[in-house]
Amino acid sequence: MAKIVGGIGCSHVPPVGIASDKGQTTDGYWSPLFEAIPPARKWILDQKPDVMIVVFNDHATSLSFKMVPTFAIGVAPYYENADEGYGPRPIPHYEGDDQLAWHIAESCILDGFDLTIVNELDLDHGFSVPMTVMFGEVEKWPVKVIPICVNVIQYPPPTAERCFHLGQAIRRAVEEYDEDLRVMIAGTGGMSHQLQGERAGVINTEFDIKYLDNLSGNNIENMKKPHLEYIRESGTEGIELVMWQVMRGALDERVKETFRKYHVASSNTAFGVICLENDN
Ligand code: DHB
Ligand code: FE
Repeated sequence: MAKIVGGIGCSHVPPVGIASDKGQTTDGYWSPLFEAIPPARKWILDQKPDVMIVVFNDHATSLSFKMVPTFAIGVAPYYENADEGYGPRPIPHYEGDDQLAWHIAESCILDGFDLTIVNELDLDHGFSVPMTVMFGEVEKWPVKVIPICVNVIQYPPPTAERCFHLGQAIRRAVEEYDEDLRVMIAGTGGMSHQLQGERAGVINTEFDIKYLDNLSGNNIENMKKPHLEYIRESGTEGIELVMWQVMRGALDERVKETFRKYHVASSNTAFGVICLENDN
């Protein structure tokens, strides 16, 4: 049977992808971040994942404001990098695990989570930057992917608690899949940041560190927090952190933290990466 072998929380700051693409990872501004990442990449590969479920948000790139599904799942065998205005990133395209994705779609929908089914989706920085952070510069991604898209760009987004419960449903789906696959799940976006408005530039290190601590401690605090608190404390785009709750919901109640890097600032954002494994 398939099983979930680990979870990752990871920011999606676009200039991190650009720094990687332009060979700037050893430059002074970027080196403190990129030098810290290799142990996370090693830990991920050590888990020998076959599939990475990436919980991310499209930034009105492919889905556009014409249609904003609350939760959606990609069921394609293949995904391209999106053109966000300056050409697609020069990194590999993605192979989807369409069979597992269809199984998760069916299982979740019959389980009460009405995921929107997406047959074709170009993936923007919300997806590609965490892939770069997790796997580095590669000629081919070492995993198949399943994109799970969460609306965090137009009010009202789903609650953190609903996201957590989606993670639980995804786990049930994975564990009833009749193939010996090692599946990892990444919750992406965050940490504290606000890109526009009067409070543009918000970074709340205390809030972020508490959020990271809670993932392997009192995650109920993260899960029960209402939107307003996320936004007040961590900025309008800090709401992206609800996506990490899908990842957290797919893991055991008790988890062990195996890696953490928190870095301020990366572009306008507090950058966080954390790796978690079940502690049983
Ligand atoms: C930045 C962060 C984001 O989450 C995003 O979607 C776009 C830009 C930034 O910090 O530059
Ligand atoms: Fe974003």
